[in-house]
Amino acid sequence: MSPPAVPVILGYGRAGRDLHHRSLGVLAERGSVPAAEVVVVDPVRPLDPLPGARWLRSLPEALATLDSPASAVVHIATPVSGRTDTVRALADAGVRRVIMEKPYASTPAMARELTTVAREAGIELLPVAVWPSSTVTRHVRELLAAGRIGRLVSLHFEQSKPRFRRGLDNGAHSSAFEVEMPHQVLLALHLCGDAEVTDAEVWPLRTPAGSARALGGGGLRLRHRGGVISTLVSDLTSPTRIRRLRLWGTEGEIVAHYPIGGDDPFGQVQMTGQQDRTLCPDAPLTTFIDDSYRFFHGTGERPDGADPQLHLRVTELLAAASAAAVPRGAPPLLGPTDVHAHWE
Ligand SMILES: NC(=O)c1ccc[n+]([C@@H]2O[C@H](COP(=O)([O-])OP(=O)(O)OC[C@H]3O[C@@H](n4cnc5c(N)ncnc54)[C@H](O)[C@@H]3O)[C@@H](O)[C@H]2O)c1
Repeated sequence: MSPPAVPVILGYGRAGRDLHHRSLGVLAERGSVPAAEVVVVDPVRPLDPLPGARWLRSLPEALATLDSPASAVVHIATPVSGRTDTVRALADAGVRRVIMEKPYASTPAMARELTTVAREAGIELLPVAVWPSSTVTRHVRELLAAGRIGRLVSLHFEQSKPRFRRGLDNGAHSSAFEVEMPHQVLLALHLCGDAEVTDAEVWPLRTPAGSARALGGGGLRLRHRGGVISTLVSDLTSPTRIRRLRLWGTEGEIVAHYPIGGDDPFGQVQMTGQQDRTLCPDAPLTTFIDDSYRFFHGTGERPDGADPQLHLRVTELLAAASAAAVPRGAPPLLGPTDVHAHWE
């Protein structure tokens, strides 16, 4: 068994504080992770840390406070650039257990380098796989495995939200394929196996204050080895938040909605011929982190979808989609002929 875990969150912004630290708080209340303090590392002092946060400015300072670097479970929640250096520094310092936020890498070359550095250092690197850990996905997988819609023919997954302010504000992303698409491609590969990109497009984000060429949204199609076609859409100019998965089989259809935020952790699933929706209590990131700590502790399997090779493949497909993407002049129209219909 591994030494008891000490959570260390690297990067205490939205993902580090509001997602990872909150999930750790829930798990500490349940007794699944240590309830003691969480070491948070960020060059910028957090203005409003969550209870239990112990802030340190740099990784060496943080690791120096631990009995052993091998006891740390480091959550990398920094922006994607610079992550290879971060993983190298963790390896040199003796850290062996790492959870890493999406996207895994910004290019396939970076993904390959990261995977190699982690493997050679003996680091167990778990890239965050939100949708594979969702109870909605688990329910969908059970329906598919039971043949409830016959043979799967096609998948459609829309993950849209209004993202005007952040699209213009922070230079963290240059394309809509970097925002929700890493989650979407991962889910498509998780459910339907490996694939190739057949076509893709992006559209601009336009506001009175400025515009960004490819940050309004995008769509891409995948042809999976087994013949299933996946269509993935992310409209970041959508007036509403949508996280809807649809699966068509030879004998029916499944419609699944993931929770649209952490404040109401329920998803819903319905299939052809079913009178009621199935309500799925769902907090996928918390489940993922729970499963990760069990894995690190030697008492559980690797979390679903947390395979660096799979994330490397996602990076390759997103690079292929970006290279092939045809720019649309404007976002697809709203209403009955909205983005969803456009991509069906
Ligand atoms: N915001 C979200 O909802 C969300 C959701 C899932 C995943 N993510 C991913 O999480 C990552 C971070 O996104 P975010 O939205 O939290 O960004 P953010 O800008 O809110 O926070 C990033 C933080 O990392 C700190 N930081 C930068 N370099 C650092 C370093 N070397 N060491 C320690 N801290 C460092 C910054 O000071 C900042 O506080 C991105 O890869 C993003 O795609 C974000």
